[in-house]
Amino acid sequence: MVQLTNQDLGFSFTLDVPAETVTVTVHRPDDGLNLTVTAPLDSAVPGLVEAAQAMEATAAHPEAATEGKRDHLRNLGARTGMALSYFRPSLNSVAQWLMWSRENTNFTYRLTPRNRGCLAHMVSCVTKKPLAEIRGYLDEPEIDVELTNYLSERIGQLWERHHNIDRTPLFGRRLGWYAMVRALKPRLVVETGVDKGIGSVLLAAALRRNAADGAAGEYVGTDINSAAGYLLAGPYAEHGRILYGDSIESLATLDKPVDLFINDSDHSVDYEAREYHAIREKLSPGAVILGDNAHASDALQVFAEETGRQFLFFKEEPENHWYPGAGIGFAF
Ligand SMILES: C[S@@+](CC[C@H](N)C(=O)[O-])C[C@H]1O[C@@H](n2cnc3c(N)ncnc32)[C@H](O)[C@@H]1O
Repeated sequence: MVQLTNQDLGFSFTLDVPAETVTVTVHRPDDGLNLTVTAPLDSAVPGLVEAAQAMEATAAHPEAATEGKRDHLRNLGARTGMALSYFRPSLNSVAQWLMWSRENTNFTYRLTPRNRGCLAHMVSCVTKKPLAEIRGYLDEPEIDVELTNYLSERIGQLWERHHNIDRTPLFGRRLGWYAMVRALKPRLVVETGVDKGIGSVLLAAALRRNAADGAAGEYVGTDINSAAGYLLAGPYAEHGRILYGDSIESLATLDKPVDLFINDSDHSVDYEAREYHAIREKLSPGAVILGDNAHASDALQVFAEETGRQFLFFKEEPENHWYPGAGIGFAF
């Protein structure tokens, strides 16, 4: 429910989103006009035209009901409907999500096909690898039967113990992380903040394929929560490990050059910036840094400028989900 009063126009306006109605109240003490019109959004215009006419008919002063004010009133319903049309699909997906998902944070979904196309172009620009090669990498996790079977079995085993995970984790923007690992063949990938370990398994799966291609690498995740990272097990655990404790402290223990760094832990701007500074001297020449907070903070932009890197931002577009999406900041 949103309620606004515009003194200048002389009416207050209430938008009831669940009921999809708009209510306009005109209260003008000088000519005694007291009027309330409630109309469903789709047919709000006639009700509001009546209100506008009443304002005009009873106006003691011509300037109290100028054409501009009447037009503003008449058009409220249509303009509200237009604005809400952008949100209606998300509102519908809330019900689907409430019914079918158990997630309460770190939501999972597919990217829209167009958005996935944008991601392929962006990873191709950052890595300077052919677009067709990157598209192939983006497709790999979903056609990787071993990975799909592993995740379904692991989640099945943990289903009763962890209540905020869904049967099929969808990778969203993490596909971009995967494609970066496949394209760059890093020897060390660090991801701060692992939560359930969806990113961990996906990054380990990329390293597993790199190893099969003769370019082995290692994954290190960090998390302050000792129960985090439970999806990283079985054959995927052979490609990496998780350091438990505060991320800044864990980063200090790394003793090999970091080729790809992914920030996704404490999302406060200050902490994010501290992680970049903690890793700065450990980055290999040409290392790429990915920020999972770049939709909400400029810490990676600033770090990119300080270290002579370029910065790009990919805005994620979830498919059939109310979450507006995060993104990937690239400093390269
Ligand atoms: C957004 S989740 C990470 C999601 C994960 N990267 C993925 O792909 O699903 C953030 C994680 O950061 C961890 N975290 C928060 N503050 C931290 C800190 N100071 N040091 C290490 N981990 C931290 C939380 O426990 C949480 O698991």
